[in-house]
This record gives sequence, C-alpha cells and structure tokens, in this order.
Amino acid sequence: MRIVLLGPPGAGKGTQAENLTKIYGVPHISTGEMFRTAVKEETPLGLEAKKYMDAGELVPDSLTIGIVKERFLKSDCAKGFLLDGFPRTLAQAEALDQMLEELDVQLDTVLNIDVPEEDLLIRLTGRQICRQCQAPYHKAFKPAQKEGICDLCGGQLYQRDDDSEATVLSRLEVYNRQTSPLISYYADSSRLTTVSGDGSVQEVTDRVKAALENLQ
Ligand code: AP5
Repeated sequence: MRIVLLGPPGAGKGTQAENLTKIYGVPHISTGEMFRTAVKEETPLGLEAKKYMDAGELVPDSLTIGIVKERFLKSDCAKGFLLDGFPRTLAQAEALDQMLEELDVQLDTVLNIDVPEEDLLIRLTGRQICRQCQAPYHKAFKPAQKEGICDLCGGQLYQRDDDSEATVLSRLEVYNRQTSPLISYYADSSRLTTVSGDGSVQEVTDRVKAALENLQ
C-alpha cells in the first residue's frame, strides 16, 4: 500500500496515519516529524529547518526532497508507506513521481482529507503532542485520560511552537498558495481520492478505509 495523505494543516493527516499504519502495517513517513526530530537534536538540517517552521513557511524543496529520498532507501519502505505532509509543492510532487519511477512502483492513491477552514484553527490551537511517541491529542476532541500525559506511553504532552494562532494562519495561507494546487495535479492523473475529514476520528478512519477498499 503506497499512499500520500494530502490536506491542510490540522486536517487530521497525522491522526489518521496513526490508525492506518496499524491497519495496513506500512511505515508512517511524516516530513514534519522528521524535521521536528532534527530540530530537537540540533542537527545542521534542524537548525536550517527551524527558521522556516517557526515562521509557518515551507522548508526549501532541496532539503525536503533529500530527506524523503534517504528515507525511501530504508528496508521497511519495500512493503509500502503512508506519506504524511509530502509532497507539498509541485516540485516535490514531480520529484516524488521520479523517485517512484526509479523504484518501479506506483501510488495506490493520494488521499485528500477535506475539512472546512474554520475548523482547522480550532483543531490546531487545541492540539497537544506526546513528547515521547508523538501521538496527537486535542484538549476538547481527543483529550488524554490523564491531563498532560500520553495514554499510550506515559510521555508528557506539549503544544507545538507552530500551533500559535498567528503561525497557524500563516501555515493555512502557505497551504492555499503552495500545496492546494496539488489537488488538480493528482486529479488530472486520476490518482486523487477525496474524503471528508468532518466528524469523529473513528468516523473519518471508517470513511478512509471504505475509500481504500473501493480502490482494490
Ligand atoms: P507538519 O508536521 O506536516 O504539519 P501540517 O501539515 O501543518 O500538519 P499538521 O501536523 O499540523 O496537521 P495534521 O493534518 O497532521 O493534523 P493532526 O492529525 O495532528 O509540518 C510542520 C512544518 O514542517 C511545516 O509548516 C513546514 O515548515 C515543515 N514541513 C513539513 N513537511 C514539509 C514539506 N513537505 N515541505 C516543506 N516543509 C515541510 O490533527 C490536528 C488536531 O486535530 C489534533 O489535535 C487532533 O487530535 C485533532 N483532530 C484530528 N482529527 C480530528 C477529528 N476528526 N475531529 C476533531 N479533531 C480532530
């Protein structure tokens, strides 16, 4: 199973990937998560990426394409992947097509999670993430059983630096300008499946599963 999860910040890509990776047994590859790890470890990549992430802008294509190419070389990708947050520009989409051609594989689909813009700000400003296992929570929609503590691993929950209201607004603007054109890019090559991301997390997972089963 080779899937790209497309959608604006807060659409639920990470949340759905957490469920889908268990169902389909393929690795969850999140470029945002890879950058956050590099920032935490203060690697040269992390120090460079942080400048863009803090401003809600995209990390340059050359860096982003490089980390995905490297990740694809790991053996767990042989059985497939769930790409979350990549591609995000036309240049990245074209680079991904080239990587897939070199590997002689094709995408099963690009799953576009559609959520009304007014809901995205509420989802992101209320989001909490586990510092240890990165599981996503929401103060109102998906609260941890014990406040501030991850249900899965007992790690501490924190708010991402780029989830402040001002940075979220800038991320949404960047999405509309640079990433939303990918919807037509994939629709034009008949690789797009759009599902509504409205409703509970489980309702969205059920919708996604049904859409993926329809492809087979
Ligand atoms: P990244 O980490 O990829 O962030 P994003 O795309 O902005 O997406 P998010 O993680 O914010 O949202 P999500 O759709 O995963 O939603 P989630 O499931 O968490 O990227 C961060 C930064 O890294 C970028 O700004 C950029 O600088 C850089 N970067 C990354 N990739 C790059 C690339 N390819 N090129 C260049 N730069 C790149 O859900 C959000 C909240 O909503 C959670 O609290 C969740 O609990 C809640 N929620 C989820 N589903 C539901 C539901 N159905 N109902 C109610 N609440 C829900």
